[in-house]
Amino acid sequence: MKIAGTDLDVFGLCLGTNIFGWTADEPESFAVLDAYAAAGGNFIDTADVYSVWADGHQGGESETVIGQWLEARGNRDEFVIATKVGAMGGLSPANIGERIDASLRRLHTDRIDLYYAHRDDPEMALEETLTALDAQVRAGKVRYIAASNYTPERLAEALAVSERDGLARFVALSPHYNLVERTYETALAELCARHNISCVPYYALAKGFLSGKYRAGQPVESSRGRLDGSAYLDDRGLRVLSALDETAAAHRTTVAAVALAWLLAQPTVIAPIASARTPEQLAELLPMAELALTDAELERLSAD
Ligand SMILES: NC(=O)c1ccc[n+]([C@@H]2O[C@H](COP(=O)([O-])OP(=O)(O)OC[C@H]3O[C@@H](n4cnc5c(N)ncnc54)[C@H](OP(=O)(O)O)[C@@H]3O)[C@@H](O)[C@H]2O)c1
Repeated sequence: MKIAGTDLDVFGLCLGTNIFGWTADEPESFAVLDAYAAAGGNFIDTADVYSVWADGHQGGESETVIGQWLEARGNRDEFVIATKVGAMGGLSPANIGERIDASLRRLHTDRIDLYYAHRDDPEMALEETLTALDAQVRAGKVRYIAASNYTPERLAEALAVSERDGLARFVALSPHYNLVERTYETALAELCARHNISCVPYYALAKGFLSGKYRAGQPVESSRGRLDGSAYLDDRGLRVLSALDETAAAHRTTVAAVALAWLLAQPTVIAPIASARTPEQLAELLPMAELALTDAELERLSAD
């Protein structure tokens, strides 16, 4: 499906990569990337900040792994590469100018297909940030720009500034959105629909919870530490799991595939972002691409 208003034609599952260089080392990351590519995947999500939270990391570890892989496989042109700026150092023109060159170097590429403002920078006037991003588009270093973690008010303001000043506009929004995080469905979804902005939701598996591996009283195999999905194991989480279990059984598929197919079926969503630590985990996500849920199933899954 094409990202609205662009020529970027993307696979229905965007591969999350904040775990590359963190819970997946380089050979494991290469194996996941190879499996994703073999399945027809072409949409990779990273950020300059990944994975600064891990011991001894400074950010750039994920971009570095992806760059090494693109170079080793010689397949850069087959992928839509999305990366982000702003989580480290904000969205000033100076920070954007510096960090984009570092991202390009690490990714072994001369252009970023989708460049996200990672989160709003309340210290910066939107005019300044958008003028700086627009300059990167004009310089050919960026194809399209996008936003992540913006409030509806600031996103609307940013779109108005782009329109007024003739600057590149955000074509996509990446919000925190999945079956157990539904805030997007209020004002942001309406705004995206009205302005023809594609939604690319992150944490699509609720940090692993929607894989179905978190069950009451059972040990979980995860490498994510405090960033795992255990917090969702409450009454509501259990109801969501039960709807997922029934739907997955009806389609003889995985819980993860149902959770991702549900997201893909929501208005404005074009590709959920999820990560997999191994090719085996990825294999449980991929059936989402062919899974058609009925209206009744979508309604039941949405009920909570
Ligand atoms: N824009 C933003 O601000 C923002 C913020 C966060 C993330 N993101 C993006 O969104 C992507 C997705 O988020 P995420 O990776 O943190 O979380 P996620 O996709 O919600 O959950 C992925 C985790 O679930 C587990 N998992 C995946 N498939 C599984 C399976 N089949 N069986 C069992 N466990 C499975 C793995 O962790 P374990 O096996 O180790 O438990 C995996 O790391 C990130 O990689 C990043 O690209 C963007």
